[in-house]
Amino acid sequence: MTAIGLTTTQAPFIEEVRGRGEIYIRQPYELYSEENQETWRRLYARIRPRWEKFAHPKFMEGVQNLALDPHNVPHLDDINKFLQPLSNFRAKAVSGYVPAYVFFECLKNREFPTTITIRAGDSLDYLPEPDIFHDVAGHVPMHTDRRFADVLVRFGEVAELVAEMAQGIKDEHERMRRLDSILKGMARFFWFTVEFGLMNTPQGVRVYGSGLLSSYGEIAHVLESPEVQRYPFQLEWVVNQYFEIHHYQPLVYIVDGFEHLYDEVARLEAWIKDGKLDNLSPGEPSVSEADLSSFLEAKKDHPVGA
Ligand SMILES: [Fe+2]
Repeated sequence: MTAIGLTTTQAPFIEEVRGRGEIYIRQPYELYSEENQETWRRLYARIRPRWEKFAHPKFMEGVQNLALDPHNVPHLDDINKFLQPLSNFRAKAVSGYVPAYVFFECLKNREFPTTITIRAGDSLDYLPEPDIFHDVAGHVPMHTDRRFADVLVRFGEVAELVAEMAQGIKDEHERMRRLDSILKGMARFFWFTVEFGLMNTPQGVRVYGSGLLSSYGEIAHVLESPEVQRYPFQLEWVVNQYFEIHHYQPLVYIVDGFEHLYDEVARLEAWIKDGKLDNLSPGEPSVSEADLSSFLEAKKDHPVGA
């Protein structure tokens, strides 16, 4: 029997589990179709030479250390066997969108919510939502680096602080207003680092952001095109900078290393405590109702610190 497929645009299994409200799921590997496997092979084969040229050396080490399979969609269990001993992180299968707080809480617990569907074979280039190629080939190799993994954990801790602070604001209107602004700033920070970040290395500027590492076109464009503005990371700009997801990024930021990135997350936290993210410039990304409530509902039963 031919497998029914786990294609992003058509996956009855995903519709079913989401219908039941399940976020964490198993990876029903038997459902990947031959077309899905072929899509993985093609995506991997065409991007591999670009990784060698543009990706951060730690990313390439990660690809090697995970024994990332060029020929078949990876089994998350296999990935985790290699990943856990290196940074104690694991990829955890999810049914799709995860509310922001839940996402950050997973990071704090050293788990990475991982999409298991794969894009359709006729749309290799553009996909507005994550798929397993973005999540496993774009994100997970970086998680093999302990310092980078610690940055993700730090994001989770910041989210916990934000939930605690928001829940402590008595006036409801003010609570929503400030939370909306802070979450916008966090999303922008995450976008310009974990998703689209560049890093200085002894070999020159290299890509560590997964949105770039999983995009055959943009990974080259971001480093080679004279149209792209590449600036040293500057927190003031990053948290106030509008971005949108449907075009190549015209503006990206370079950090000096993993320690620098970690320190900037710590600085983000200090800025949040000082109220510096309470009145950010408006614009994208918009913060969804679900994301706001995920922060307001966080840890109701187990107050932070309890
Ligand atoms: Fe991503």
